[in-house]
Amino acid sequence: MTTQTILITGGAGFIGSHVVRLFVNQYADYRIVNLDQLTYAGNLANLRDVETYPNYTFVRGDITDAAFVRQLFGQYHFDGVIHLAAESHVDRSITHPLEFVMTNVIGTVNLLNAAKEAWQGDRRPSDGERPEAPAHLFYHVSTDEVYGSLHRPESFFTESTAYDPQSPYSASKASSDHFVRAYHNTYGLPVVITNCSNNYGPNQFPEKLLPLFIHNIQHHKPLPVYGKGENVRDWLYVVDHARAIDKVYHQGRVGETYNIGGFNEWRNLDLIQLLCRVMDRKLGRPEGESARLITYVTDRAGHDLRYAIDAAKIMNELGWKPSLQFEEGLEKTVDWYLTHSDWLADVTSGEYQRYYDTQYTDRFTK
Ligand code: NAD
Ligand code: DAU
Repeated sequence: MTTQTILITGGAGFIGSHVVRLFVNQYADYRIVNLDQLTYAGNLANLRDVETYPNYTFVRGDITDAAFVRQLFGQYHFDGVIHLAAESHVDRSITHPLEFVMTNVIGTVNLLNAAKEAWQGDRRPSDGERPEAPAHLFYHVSTDEVYGSLHRPESFFTESTAYDPQSPYSASKASSDHFVRAYHNTYGLPVVITNCSNNYGPNQFPEKLLPLFIHNIQHHKPLPVYGKGENVRDWLYVVDHARAIDKVYHQGRVGETYNIGGFNEWRNLDLIQLLCRVMDRKLGRPEGESARLITYVTDRAGHDLRYAIDAAKIMNELGWKPSLQFEEGLEKTVDWYLTHSDWLADVTSGEYQRYYDTQYTDRFTK
């Protein structure tokens, strides 16, 4: 028997596919509807292992299409939403900022409107209440980038850190977070937001640092390090993020924000050198061979210096903690990419690039 129906948006993407897999496997009594437009970043191959499960449904569609989103809510009567669909790459946001406004801001507001209309009149959990079934919940997945860049070495982002987004990507995510809170404050929509640090692991599109560098090392291509490689990121294994989303969806307090991170800061250059050593070992190459591919290139415009999450709230309140040490997670990640070269070849074939360009042109030249 189905006890609740959850809409997961962006479920064919990197993090979304791990969230869908976890929910579909863990909750046989839930119906999971994965809504994804399958942009260049979405790939149904990420979910081959669960695509025939009876509690899983895939719907291809665009969250920027308000009428379609409203119709979907009418069709499935969702009890909850876990919203991950987004344009997610900072470098693309610098060249295509409007695309980020469309998906991350307009798309989120379309979902909020549809949830508000569908859930109007139903009993809603009040602030601080745990969103146990059958109450509704709109769970918005966001990023630590909304907080801007840390400059003091001992400082961390907490849930009360002021927003200070620096890139078009983080500005669009910050805007969507504000809309989610505004719908809670204005209309009483039951919401929860999480802001997570950099994820790594299987199925990440190779425009992001780790899969790009693994791919380039494998193919003896240069490793383009932005600036001096001194920027610091806080890395979390993607399955641990999915586990945190599960915790917050079921036990998080309505109206709250939770930061998610691994207390695992790495300077880019140190991380890249570690990756090079792991790759040399895995590929049977002499130590130092991969590191010779490091090439310093022009820095990313407005490049945030350091992100670091204080994850004490989710750890203390909900008992979540990362399951993997970074070195172990990195080994697993490298092993996955080396044994899934067909996946990498497929997504780097150039098809996605053409699709992206057409999509962009179609949307903004009409
Ligand atoms: P991703 O780019 O890998 O996946 C995004 C997914 O959204 C893709 O499957 C894509 O097809 C889909 N999508 C894009 N536009 C859509 C639209 N208009 N309608 C329907 N579907 C659409 O992203 P990701 O890295 O998995 O990130 C997922 C979410 O988590 C994002 O909201 C991102 O801001 C957030 N986040 C990511 C990280 C990270 O390190 N990757 C960290 C913290 C938060
Ligand atoms: O912090 C969470 C964010 O992490 C998410 O919200 C974003 O969706 C996700 O893309 C990620 O953003 P970053 O910009 O930190 O990730 P990226 O992998 O693009 O870059 C990581 C660091 O590596 C960053 O300091 C830029 C640098 N870099 C990246 C690339 C792609 C390079 O030096 N060279 C590169 O080629």
